[in-house]
Amino acid sequence: MKMNHLKAERDGRVVTVRLHRPHALNALSSELLAELLGVLGPLDQDPEVGCFVVTGSEKVFAAGADIREMAGRSAVDMMSEDYFAAWEDFADLRTPKIAAVSGYALGGGCELAMMCDLVVAGESALFGQPEIKLGVIPGIGGTQRLTRLVGRAKALDLVLTGRTMDAREAERCGLVSRVVPDDRVLAEALEAAAAIASYGRTAVRAARECVDRALETGLRDGLRFERRVFHALFATEDQKEGMTAFLEKRPPRFHGR
Ligand code: CAA
Repeated sequence: MKMNHLKAERDGRVVTVRLHRPHALNALSSELLAELLGVLGPLDQDPEVGCFVVTGSEKVFAAGADIREMAGRSAVDMMSEDYFAAWEDFADLRTPKIAAVSGYALGGGCELAMMCDLVVAGESALFGQPEIKLGVIPGIGGTQRLTRLVGRAKALDLVLTGRTMDAREAERCGLVSRVVPDDRVLAEALEAAAAIASYGRTAVRAARECVDRALETGLRDGLRFERRVFHALFATEDQKEGMTAFLEKRPPRFHGR
């Protein structure tokens, strides 16, 4: 597949995608999204792939949706295309996704990071939802995922003022998993990705699904869902292998079954 806005690289069970639209600060155009889904969609079905890493450049993870692409559209255009709906296909990929964020993660860039399962940020990364300055509001989860992750007070602070927050603040409020020195961002993300990819794929996917369920449901239903998934994992070879290996004091060999 010819790619104009991305670079993809596979190393064993980890696939790294680098957003590459430097002239537009990695603005997330429809074409970029189509390329992202075109690359990651098929790999999501590949049992030999265990984790995705999404990254940008040193200066910018992504500066948001493509303002140039949107500027002239009418409400009818936006609604009839259900503009942004395809981003849910990215969020729904079942392979764990790690955002390795350096520089700006603004608007859709911040929302893209929030669609990932881990966010590793460099010390000088900046997060924000500045859409209010453009006369609109966030449209790919910046009022919904952000509020669930950081709470109403912080979400409204960001969404209504359009200010940016630095990586430490983003970590404190629950948007970022780890903050590392700028020159360690990708390495740290790749190490985490390699660890995740080394575990049983079925258990990894189940764990993701259960954690995400916590944001969508009440505690009682969530606990029952978790317990049933836990029970179901006893049908896997990986559960037998993982527990037997522990008792035999040897490393496990998972096969994703
Ligand atoms: N869309 C399209 N083009 C963009 C862009 C975007 N989101 N962000 C930057 N660019 C382009 C600029 O237009 C500029 O292009 P030209 O050289 O052709 O003029 C180029 O990238 C470089 O940008 P700047 O000159 O502005 O770079 P800077 O270093 O001075 O500033 C910045 C960096 C603070 C990130 C600034 O570019 C900026 O504020 N960008 C817009 C951020 C934003 O508003 N994001 C939200 C977009 S809407 C959205 O995301 C909705 C949603 O919920 C999904």
